[in-house]
Amino acid sequence: MREVKIRPESPNDILTIQTVNTAAFGQPNEAQLVNKLRENATHFIPELSLVALMNNEIVGHILLTTNKIVDATGNEVESLSLAPMAVAPFLQKKGIGSQLVQHAIEKAKQLGYHSIIVLGHEKYYPKFGFKPASTFGIKAPFEVPDDVFMALELTTDALKNVAGMVHYPHEFMEV
Ligand SMILES: CC(C)(COP(=O)(O)OP(=O)(O)OC[C@H]1O[C@@H](n2cnc3c(N)ncnc32)[C@H](O)[C@@H]1OP(=O)(O)O)[C@@H](O)C(=O)NCCC(=O)NCCS
Repeated sequence: MREVKIRPESPNDILTIQTVNTAAFGQPNEAQLVNKLRENATHFIPELSLVALMNNEIVGHILLTTNKIVDATGNEVESLSLAPMAVAPFLQKKGIGSQLVQHAIEKAKQLGYHSIIVLGHEKYYPKFGFKPASTFGIKAPFEVPDDVFMALELTTDALKNVAGMVHYPHEFMEV
């Protein structure tokens, strides 16, 4: 496969990111979610909206936004949510998604974040070190099978003393 380059999004990429997300999901909802999250300065981190390019064309996108893990006493710990992620349909299953996940993890570490939460395929994300979030006492704010709601520690024992419910930016609840 030709070389894939990964870099943060730039303003000129916005329409293509929308196109790739719509094509990958077969509906506009996730593309609209990305557009709405981009307007939410509290949770959107431009360096963590990454695009994958082949021959200078955007063929994939991944977004990490901040969330909060809130325990029963109201203590809050900042974390990241991985969602959505998309690769152009004709280029799926060639490893581009995996490269996007790996880059996103490295970039999140560089920026000093401690953990990532994902709702996703239970066979895919464990390859990158994700474990069921329930292992850490972390719950989703909606009904979901245990093995598809996962968490990754970016620093040693980052989630050791963190438990509670993940609070997503409101844009996620409107998808
Ligand atoms: C999920 C997605 C981004 C993965 O990108 P990719 O470039 O195809 O990923 P890779 O080539 O690194 O890995 C592909 C593997 O992951 C599996 N996989 C990953 N996520 C999956 C999912 N949500 N459902 C089913 N399989 C999934 C594939 O079946 C495949 O497994 P295989 O190689 O053992 O057959 C891409 O398939 C896609 O855009 N799908 C549509 C949108 C979507 O469902 N996004 C994820 C939810 S946010």
